[in-house]
Order: sequence, then C-alpha cells, then structure tokens
Amino acid sequence: MADKKIIAITGATGAQGGGLARAILGDPNSPFAVRALTRNPASEKARQLAALGAEVVAADVDDVESLKGAFAGAYGAYCVTFFWEHFSPERENAQAKNMATAAHHRGLGHVIWSTFEDTRKYVPLTDPRMPTLQGKYKVPHFDAKAEADHYFTDLGVPTTFLLTSFYWENFIQFGMGPKRGPDGVLALTLPLGDKKMPSLSAEDIGRFAYGLFRHPAEFIDKTVGVASEHLSGAQMAAAIGKALGQEVRYNAVPPDVYRGFGFPGADDLGNMFQFKADFEDVYCGNRDLALARRLNPALVTFDQWLAANKGRIPIE
Ligand SMILES: NC(=O)c1ccc[n+]([C@@H]2O[C@H](COP(=O)([O-])OP(=O)(O)OC[C@H]3O[C@@H](n4cnc5c(N)ncnc54)[C@H](OP(=O)(O)O)[C@@H]3O)[C@@H](O)[C@H]2O)c1
Repeated sequence: MADKKIIAITGATGAQGGGLARAILGDPNSPFAVRALTRNPASEKARQLAALGAEVVAADVDDVESLKGAFAGAYGAYCVTFFWEHFSPERENAQAKNMATAAHHRGLGHVIWSTFEDTRKYVPLTDPRMPTLQGKYKVPHFDAKAEADHYFTDLGVPTTFLLTSFYWENFIQFGMGPKRGPDGVLALTLPLGDKKMPSLSAEDIGRFAYGLFRHPAEFIDKTVGVASEHLSGAQMAAAIGKALGQEVRYNAVPPDVYRGFGFPGADDLGNMFQFKADFEDVYCGNRDLALARRLNPALVTFDQWLAANKGRIPIE
C-alpha cells in the first residue's frame, strides 16, 4: 500500500470519479491508491469508499487552497466539474482553473481532465442553425469544459484530455427514459434523427480512465474519447423495449421542439443533441470503440447494461 502511487479523484462520490475509484480499489494488484475528494467525508457514499480502502479527504473544487492540500503527495488526479449542479459555464471554468492550478502547484505526474469538444469550432456563434446560449456558447456544458483545456496546457500539467459520452444512467436519473404516450405506448424522445450517438455506462468512464493512468507514456498530452457503443435513437428504443418486454417507440423530435420542452437545461441539451447529430462523423470518430475495449476489457454493452438495470428505469 505504502509504495502505491496516489490518484486524487474529484467527484469520487459521483459517477465518473466513483467508477475510477471502484476500478482501482477493485484491483488488488493496482499500482495506485485512491484518495477520494469530497465536500462531505461523513456522507454515506464517502464512507462506502473508505470501506473499500480509499483515503477520504475533504476538498471543494471552488476552493483552490483545499485542492492544493488534497493533491499533496499525489502522483495523479482525475479532474471533473459538475455543470448540472449550477448550470454556470463561468463557474465550471473557474473550477477547472482551480484544479489545473493545484495540479501544477503539486507537480503531479499525470492528470486526466474530463472535457468535451468546443462545439463553436463546428457551429460558430454566427451560425443560426441553433441558438446562441448565455451570450457566447452553443452548448454551454461542452464549450465551457473545452475552454478550460488551456489551463492545463498553459501550466504544463501532464494531462490526458478525456472526451466523455452520454451516460445510459440518464434513462434512470436524468428523466430521459421512455414515457408513455396518449396511446399507452412507451416512446423514447431524442432529437437525433437517424444519426448515431456514442454512449456508455458512466461506470465505464472510470474503468477507461484507470486504463489511461496505467499507460501514461501513451496518453499524456493526448485527447482521447470514450464510448461503449455508437447507437441510433431507434436502436436504443428497440433495445430498451426488448429488455422491458414491451414496445418502445423512437420519437425523433426536431431539436427546436426538444429545446422548447422547458425543463432546466433543455436548450443546452437540445443544442448538444443537434451538434452530435449534425457532426455524427466527427463526434463518433472522436470516440474509438476498439480503444475503449482495449483499455477496459470489462466494458459493458447497452444490452448487458439493460439486463442489469432495466428495473431501475422509471416506467409508469
Ligand atoms: N449525464 C451525462 O450523460 C454526462 C455525460 C458525460 C459527461 N457528463 C458531465 O459529467 C459531469 C459531472 O460528473 P458526474 O456525472 O461524475 O457527477 P455526479 O455523479 O453528479 O457527481 C458529482 C459529485 O461531485 C461532487 N461535487 C459537486 N460539487 C463539488 C464541489 N464544489 N467540490 C467538490 N466536489 C463536488 C459531489 O460530491 P460530494 O457531494 O461528496 O462533495 C458529487 O458526488 C458534468 O459536468 C457533466 O457535464 C455528463
């Protein structure tokens, strides 16, 4: 244990960081030890990580000094921000700056920054196909992460830029699962037309990140994407229907209709799905399925995930 290299993990009580923590802690021969960062070490999730063998340390990504303390003596860090807690691109940007600053301060050997494409490279603010949001973004929760990439490069932090993908857990927790229509038939509503979208179980992001940490020479200063499958809306609806044992239709609404649904973030997500559909080749191309399986042979398919999780998808 003492000779293991410490990986400090932000969001360790959440999806991405939790997956990484469990991947490391579940491998008795791991060269790494887990330092789980949380705002609340007394929480149930933090205690569960401690029981698995993690060192649990208090830190807040809004507070750079707490991150400097939490990164002390670490070899690496997994850095993720939490857009959906506050919906503020500026706050997300500041949190990333704090993490890069603390990583530089402590001279970390390998950082993984959980980021996304800057959609404005493909859809400039002048492009009317989708509305500009919050004054200077097309997809705020993508663009803000991409904008923050430079903090890591400017400071010379040895970083892997990890492009993540749509979690299947959104069908459970994010209200994106199938809903029953007036005719009583379930429908999966997504504005993807007939295009394919990279997606995965959030747990596999962490397992993939573990693979990145194990191959620093190959992945430092690189941008890599992760997905388990590239699936169309029709394929996802069919797979969910098969798992549930009842019909699930694919309801391919136009992005404008999705943006108009009115729930918090509907405009951001409408633009996001439109970007993924309009730039299917780029977005899928950035997420190599063979690499995902090479670094994480335990990668689960959508059918496998559904078999294990179908009972958690809320269906009325
Ligand atoms: N939903 C998707 O399909 C999807 C796909 C790809 C990427 N993403 C991105 O994933 C990011 C979120 O990651 P996630 O899904 O792993 O998060 P998550 O499961 O929502 O977990 C968030 C964790 O972050 C911690 N946290 C929140 N604010 C914090 C702060 N100020 N300081 C320290 N810790 C803080 C919380 O831990 P404590 O309460 O213990 O402090 C919480 O457990 C978002 O930015 C989103 O854009 C989402």
